[in-house]
Order: sequence, then structure tokens, then C-alpha cells
Amino acid sequence: GAVLEAPVSAPAAVPAAPQGPREATVLFGSQTGNAQRLAGRLADKLKGQGFDVTLSAMSQYKTNNLKKAGYLFIVVSTHGEGDPPDNALTFHEFLHSKRAPKLDGTKFAVLALGDTSYEFFCKTGQDFDARLAELGAERIVDRVDCDVDFEDAAAGWIAAVEKAVGQAAAPSAAPAAAAAASAASAPAESEYSRSNPFMAEVLENINLNGRGSDRETRHLELSLEGSGLTYAPGDALGVYPQNDPALVDEIIAFMGWNPDEPVATGKDGEKSPLREALLRHYEITVLTKPLLEKAAAFSRNGKLAELLKPENKDELKAYANGRDLLDLLRDYEPWNLAAGDVPALLRKMPPRLYSIASSLNAHPDEVHLTIRKVEYEAHGRERKGVCSVYASERLEPGDKVPVFIQHNSNFKLPADPETPVIMVGPGTGVAPFRAFLEEREELGAAGKTWLFYGDRHFVTDFLYQTDWQRMLKDGVLTKLDVAFSRDTEEKVYVQHRMLENGEELYKWLQEGAHVYVCGDEKHMAHDVHAALLDIVGRYGGLSPEEAAAYVARLQEQGRYQRDVY
Ligand code: 2AM
Repeated sequence: GAVLEAPVSAPAAVPAAPQGPREATVLFGSQTGNAQRLAGRLADKLKGQGFDVTLSAMSQYKTNNLKKAGYLFIVVSTHGEGDPPDNALTFHEFLHSKRAPKLDGTKFAVLALGDTSYEFFCKTGQDFDARLAELGAERIVDRVDCDVDFEDAAAGWIAAVEKAVGQAAAPSAAPAAAAAASAASAPAESEYSRSNPFMAEVLENINLNGRGSDRETRHLELSLEGSGLTYAPGDALGVYPQNDPALVDEIIAFMGWNPDEPVATGKDGEKSPLREALLRHYEITVLTKPLLEKAAAFSRNGKLAELLKPENKDELKAYANGRDLLDLLRDYEPWNLAAGDVPALLRKMPPRLYSIASSLNAHPDEVHLTIRKVEYEAHGRERKGVCSVYASERLEPGDKVPVFIQHNSNFKLPADPETPVIMVGPGTGVAPFRAFLEEREELGAAGKTWLFYGDRHFVTDFLYQTDWQRMLKDGVLTKLDVAFSRDTEEKVYVQHRMLENGEELYKWLQEGAHVYVCGDEKHMAHDVHAALLDIVGRYGGLSPEEAAAYVARLQEQGRYQRDVY
């Protein structure tokens, strides 16, 4: 398929010694690891040019070194409503405060990662870009704002930076340099990556929920045999799903297209039949602003152009929310849109990231996922989560799925196996904690562990119950507190269990425990954070400000890590 890109061999960087500062600082703010990986790639390139490079997460960076940074490069993503990643929060705040130094002598460039389906697309990168200029630094390469299919745009920015620092990687045209840049950084351990996924065979696919549950959660076991891929607990697996065939067929029928017409699926002119392209290669379930803008050029219905006018911003947002390509095509017909225009209109299918639910030591050559099926009604139609429904309804043992490992250094077990660990993971948020505990079980780690788990009903929704029971018995799991929200009159959630156990939880923190939170960001992680502040304040005898500082310090020390979505 076209997600498989041919490997390109990279020309070795030519080391020379141009004049000017030889020190470069590359800072990243990264939640899922993409910004970190791209920052690492840039750092490698700069080292290849003879630079003395400081590569650091923003949270780990000593800001009093800022004035000395000759070159400052920033790679940062944006989350939710324009929020910086956790490990960019304090640096973002510092740089925007009065404490930020003048940066007259600094040369800088910013690479922003984001998602055009969000209103505040790439906001954090834009903030840094504007602020550095305001502080007097000189922008040597224009900021690039990348959408979810960031590889080409990011490679282009890296090539531009390389050129700007006085050493063009190759005298050839930019696209060639960009292709080389993305291939050069392929991880050494395996030939498989985001742009060259491994076809993993499905070994098991079982529903973890009991009969009568209103939820369906798949436990998926995949084989990594022969891939050379490895992972650590806390890492994620990227999965390229397929769109719902029924939706694809409806789109094709509505437009009167020929499902067999060859259309482009890769930048190198590779083609697939239209139906195949819509199944595997393009996103058809999200209406981003760039998509609507492009679509307006193909619509012979003036109302779409009207909707895109700046004064109709709110209407546009309301329209795009929860609708898909089929809605758009129906609502704004007639169209001047041929099957051949599809590649110009749609985003490439983005992979979905799932926190890995297994330890590689416990299950050699395997990777396990915990995927909850997402289905709901919106705008008069049944909506299906692309990857979760693909996994639930269309993946069987023997099938193959394109996958890659997404390393996540922001969600890792403590280096010391004796360090106590507190894990908060309701619903599918429990996945990485199965990996954590399996790993500690395998290693015979002695540190105390405490799991807070929650879901709707005890009888049908207690994911991996037998695993936890075994782990309690063999001692790798010290404490388990559960909150089943719909078994009682009043809702109980994981944070209520934390608060009930506040005194002991605080004691664990004082003993050096690490706290991990995985799962829903908007509600759960927010409320769990508030509970943590409450506990630290109450049992530490701290004011709200002091409690906030205590928790911020935990975060800076890597003792409070979150994998939230
Ligand atoms: P609910 O659906 O009954 O409201 C996993 O989805 C579990 O997380 C469910 O029991 C769900 O409860 C619960 N949940 C929902 N909102 C939450 C919140 N703000 N904090 C913690 N748990 C929450």
C-alpha cells in the first residue's frame, strides 16, 4: 500500500566548518513523542555539521543558559484547545513572563506540530515563534505549521534549517533534500517506522466486556515477529486503520464515481483504485478547515463559500464538528469534483496511537492493545470511530495490520525497581499499567505498586480482572482500589478513591512514589489532578499555591507523568 514508502538512502552529511556560532540548542515540547523525535533528528543533523548541540525537553532545560544559546531551535506540538504539552508548560510560561531575557544575539526557528481539525491549530508553536522575535531573537527560517501528516513538512523545515546554518545538505532541489532527511533518521533498531509500518499479524482479538455490558473493549494481540521492533512499557503502538466500507461505498455511490478508477495515493505517483484509496489512504471522517476551503473550489453551491466567510466562523465550527465527508458532499451539492480530485482534497489517513498493554519481556514478539469501540449518533446518523470499529468488527486472527512503535519517554517506569508507583487508569486508561505491572513481575521488582481502576459496572466492565488478581496474589500489585460508577446511586470515580485514601497516598508520595495517570484528558485527568492537589494540600499542610508548586515539582522531576487523550 502507499503508506509504505520506499526507503531512500541518505547522502552522508558533509562536515565543514562555516563561521559563526558553533553551539545550537534544540528544545522540544512533546506529548506523544513526535516533536521529540523530530528534534532528535534535527540535533543529529546539526551534530553532523560540527555543531555542539544541546538537545533537551523544555522541562529539563536550565533557562539561564538561554542567553548563551547561539542558535535556538524549537519543536513543539499543541494539544486540545491550544495547550502546550505537559513538558512545555513551565518553559512556555517562563518565556512569556517578565523573567524572560532579551535574546538579541540569538538566531532561532520554530517547527510547530498540530492538527487542523482543532481551532487553535499549532498555537503553542506560534506563541514561541512570536515571543522569540519579540525578545529580539532573529528568525532564520520561517515557522512551519504541520498537520497530522507532518513527515514531509517537517523534513522540509529541517532541510531549511540545515541550509540556513550555513551548510546546505546537498546542492539539489529541496524535495530531494527533504526525502533524504526523513530517511536518514530512521531508527537503527528496526527498518519499520511511521512512514514504513510493519504488517503485524493479528493473533487474538477478544471482547473484554461481559455479556450485557453497554461497552465493547477489544484486547488485541499482534505479532511483531521478524520486525526487529522493540518497545518499553509506556510506549504506544501506531495503527493505520481502514475506513468503514459502508461509508466509502456510500460516498462513491453518491458522487457517481467509478470505484475502480485509479487515483494517486503516494507522492511518488503511486496509484490505487478509488475504493481502495478511500478505504486505506485518506481520511474521510473529519472536516478540517483546510478541507472545507479546498472543497469550496469544487462546490457549485455558493453556500459553502458563504459558510467560510470570517463572519461565519462560529457556524463553520458548529457545522464541521462531528460531520464527515458524506455529510459535506450531501449538504453542498452540486459538485464539480472528480474521483481524480480526491488526493488534492483529503488528508492522508493518520495513524491512531494506542498505549501498549503488554510487556515485551512477558510476551516476546507480541504487542497487546486495549481498544474501546466508539459508536454514537450525531447529526441524524450513526457515527463510528475509525480505528476502534475497524479493530472490533473487521480484524480477525490471521489478518495483518500496518503498525509502528511510538516511543514515549514521558511515560516510563522509574529507573529504580524499588521506587513505589501509583497508577490511575480508568477504562482503557488501564492499558499501560498492565504493561508496567507485567514488566515489574518479569523483573521481580520489589517496589510497591498501587492501581486505581474504574469503569461503569463491576460485573461486566472489570478489564483484565484476572490479571490484577494474579498480580495481587504474587505481590507485584500491592494495592488495588476500584470505582464502578454505575453500580451505585451516586457516581464514584477513581479520584474519589484517591481522596478516601489521601493520607496513605501522600505518605507514598513522601516516600518517593511516582504517579501515572492514563485515560480521558478532559474530565478524568483534570479531576484527578485536582484530587492530587487536594491531597497534597490537606496532608502536607500546604496552601493551594504551595500544593501547586509541590505537584509542579513532581512533574518536573518526572514523578508525575500523564498519558492522556
Ligand atoms: P461514567 O461513564 O459512569 O460517568 C471509564 O470510562 C470510567 O470513567 C467510567 O466509569 C466513567 O464513568 C468514568 N468517568 C467519567 N467521567 C469521569 C471523571 N470526570 N473522572 C473520573 N472518572 C470519570
